[in-house]
Amino acid sequence: MRNILLHLHPQRVNESAIRFNRTFGLGGMAALLIFGQIITGILLRFYYTPIPAEAYNSVMFTKTQVLFGQFIRNIHYWSGVFLLLIAFLHFLRVFFTGAYRNERMINWLFGLVLLILVVLLNFTGYLLPWDQLAYWAITVSTNIIGYIPLVGESIRTTIISGNELNANTLRTFFTFHTAVLPLLLILIVFYHFWKVRKAGGVLVPKTQEPPVMVPVMPNLVFKEFIVALVLIAVLFTFSALFNAPLLEKANPSYSLNPTKAPWYFAGLQELLMHFHPLFAAFIIPVGVLAFLAWIPFFKYDTVPDGQWFISEKGKKTSVSTAKFAAIITLSGILFNEYILNFEVLLSPVPAFISNGILPVLILIGFMSAYYKYYLKNFNMKKEELVQAVFVFFIVAFIVLTLVGVFFRGKDMALSFLWNV
Ligand code: HEM
Repeated sequence: MRNILLHLHPQRVNESAIRFNRTFGLGGMAALLIFGQIITGILLRFYYTPIPAEAYNSVMFTKTQVLFGQFIRNIHYWSGVFLLLIAFLHFLRVFFTGAYRNERMINWLFGLVLLILVVLLNFTGYLLPWDQLAYWAITVSTNIIGYIPLVGESIRTTIISGNELNANTLRTFFTFHTAVLPLLLILIVFYHFWKVRKAGGVLVPKTQEPPVMVPVMPNLVFKEFIVALVLIAVLFTFSALFNAPLLEKANPSYSLNPTKAPWYFAGLQELLMHFHPLFAAFIIPVGVLAFLAWIPFFKYDTVPDGQWFISEKGKKTSVSTAKFAAIITLSGILFNEYILNFEVLLSPVPAFISNGILPVLILIGFMSAYYKYYLKNFNMKKEELVQAVFVFFIVAFIVLTLVGVFFRGKDMALSFLWNV
């Protein structure tokens, strides 16, 4: 046991790197959830049949006839959701402690790949029960891919092996979900851990005095054990109280209303309701991903020292940018829904201008006025500016997701009743 632990951790660790409020144990929690996903996934695999005619019944059988089948299915479902949320929080914590530069650059990039893999694992798993929810959520999400210019339609038909979901789609999703993606995830997670050690452990603010080094056992291992127990307790309680969704068997000729994408793509689906597909499904998401990948490569003014939010000024500007992003996103949604729709207003103008270039230019105008004001009044450093742009994107994405998940009702119209 000791040897296994010492493959993961060094003998001694910096005392301030293992304080709970440095990492919140998020990376470790993500690793534990991946492990749990693999175990429960193998158990579910014993009864699951990846054929449209039988998939739904096999899930039903697991739910109703197999000892603890429902519970195992719930754990698998909820730990997938938790994994995505926790990996996202870990990504935020890494960003806000500035741990993405110099020797941590590559790990930031591999971290982004891990986040994408976790999304894809959730996405491919979503189809497997082959119920109405699965069928229609995957149909709308893969339709979004079809909006990518030039190659979108051929990517969509390749992914779903045809024009609509069919037996080959299920087999492809099943193979990715149970073999290709988990394998990639495990390999990259090990590389990720190794890079954390190569970088000298978690980034901590430099102090005048030499760091206090303490033995990893029991100092870190005990904390990890407590975090693991609490996580397992929460996950089991959740799984005992809330069943993983399962509607009636998929019916390709009767769509759900509203037909919503899975919750992690609800923000993208919401964006599609306001921007031309070229922008909503391609230019904006690719632009944001490129920005995230480019974050370590900007030329910054100072060396990162692990301070939360860089500085007091960084914290203040992040809070006010978060408020600005929430207000502008919400008002944009309401304005477009109830007051003015550029596509209708400027109808002879091609939609990619009226509903794409124009609103994007307006948004860029708002953002640059806002950042000019901040640069002038707060004399921000480059890293604080990048942090503010990051906060803007993250908050806008969260608001879009919340609106898409909770406030879209029948026919995808805005509705202020809770619509899950
Ligand atoms: C499945 C997903 C992931 C797992 C299992 C994982 C695991 C871990 C663990 C255990 C650590 C060490 C300490 C800690 O808990 O923070 C760590 C650090 C780190 N992770 Fe992740 N991670 C994942 C996803 C990500 C993502 C999405 C990013 C960012 C894009 C990322 C970037 C980093 C970086 C740069 C470090 C070094 C942080 C530092 O030195 O302070 N990881 N990760």
